[in-house]
Amino acid sequence: MLLELLTICVLGTVVYCVPYKTWHVAGVSLLYVIKYNILGMLAVMHDLWNIKRNKIDLPPMPAKIAIVTGGSRGIGAMVVKKLLQCDMEVIIACRTAIMGEKTVLQLRKSGVTNGRVKVYELDNSSLESVREFAERIKKEYTKVHILINNAGVMFPPYQQTKDGFEEQWAVNYLSHFLLTSLLLPLLKNGGQPDDCSRIINVTSCAYILGNSNFDSVNCRDKFVTQAVYAQSKLAQVIFTSTLQKCLTDRSLNVRIYSVHPGIVKTDLFNNSYLSKVKLLMIGFKTPEQGAIPIVYTAINKDIGMRGGLYINNCKESSILPKALEPKTQEQLFDLSLKQAQLNDFFQYL
Ligand SMILES: NC(=O)c1ccc[n+]([C@@H]2O[C@H](COP(=O)([O-])OP(=O)(O)OC[C@H]3O[C@@H](n4cnc5c(N)ncnc54)[C@H](OP(=O)(O)O)[C@@H]3O)[C@@H](O)[C@H]2O)c1
Repeated sequence: MLLELLTICVLGTVVYCVPYKTWHVAGVSLLYVIKYNILGMLAVMHDLWNIKRNKIDLPPMPAKIAIVTGGSRGIGAMVVKKLLQCDMEVIIACRTAIMGEKTVLQLRKSGVTNGRVKVYELDNSSLESVREFAERIKKEYTKVHILINNAGVMFPPYQQTKDGFEEQWAVNYLSHFLLTSLLLPLLKNGGQPDDCSRIINVTSCAYILGNSNFDSVNCRDKFVTQAVYAQSKLAQVIFTSTLQKCLTDRSLNVRIYSVHPGIVKTDLFNNSYLSKVKLLMIGFKTPEQGAIPIVYTAINKDIGMRGGLYINNCKESSILPKALEPKTQEQLFDLSLKQAQLNDFFQYL
């Protein structure tokens, strides 16, 4: 009896002392963990079911120039490998040049002898770094054929970038929004009426869990890291659809796509409990398998004129209506312009 009373008192004090906000955040986080687990299991099953589809040919394309952000590690490094196998000129955009050079060395050692590759520094958490990177590329190149917006982070604790944005929002989405605008003139130059240049946003099936109210995405108050990751991935899908409409309106020979690479065993899961129980990652794709749908989207001829698609396991997949809602698209586009300090997305054309 005394013990029960004591337990009730202790629990009561804990509930009283821990602010409501903390309970709310813990509850929302738990709900997201459950949703991610269900979605993840379904996605792994989809990957396994479609394993035979996840294949590509790598034809020689020596005239093409491609940029891969986050190209020094994980899926990005394997995308670089496959583009080099297509004999392309590949620009690895990465935070640390030494890491990029190491990746090149490893790829060359592993027998990838074709293609040309260069390493440039780009920190996607800084808009200034994005601008500097684009400036360097513009000085050295007059055209680009493929831009792969791949760099990403998942579930970090709250961290604000020096521009004042939440890290996942800045790295996964906003930096790529700005980069795409800055490089549009080069992509335009690379596109031909029968062979358009391509922008590929490496998103995730996690976009399905994203909330389309983006106004509060950078708020520290009530921050739930799983929610923001999903929002950053939803923003990529919405951006793809919005920008494709604008590109079509302007008759530019540029197409934009979203790709879900699959559920892939990489360091992306370092902030998830899965990294501590590796056995639970059985059935995940390897980084090389994860690179296949991305490279498919970058080079497949059949989808070359059909921008705005969402690709999953080398197949067009339907997009949820919340990502196609015109009002949401307009609101996100305006917000992104403001955050990236652009007057007009096409101002560099
Ligand atoms: N793995 C999956 O199951 C999965 C599923 C769906 C979608 N995706 C998406 O696939 C993309 C690649 O993920 P991954 O699995 O390959 O993850 P990863 O192995 O952790 O690689 C992430 C890449 O992003 C780069 N990056 C992180 N923060 C950066 C920053 N501030 N500036 C520049 N680069 C930065 C990393 O470079 P550093 O070496 O400098 O850290 C690294 O190259 C991400 O967009 C992710 O959301 C992955």
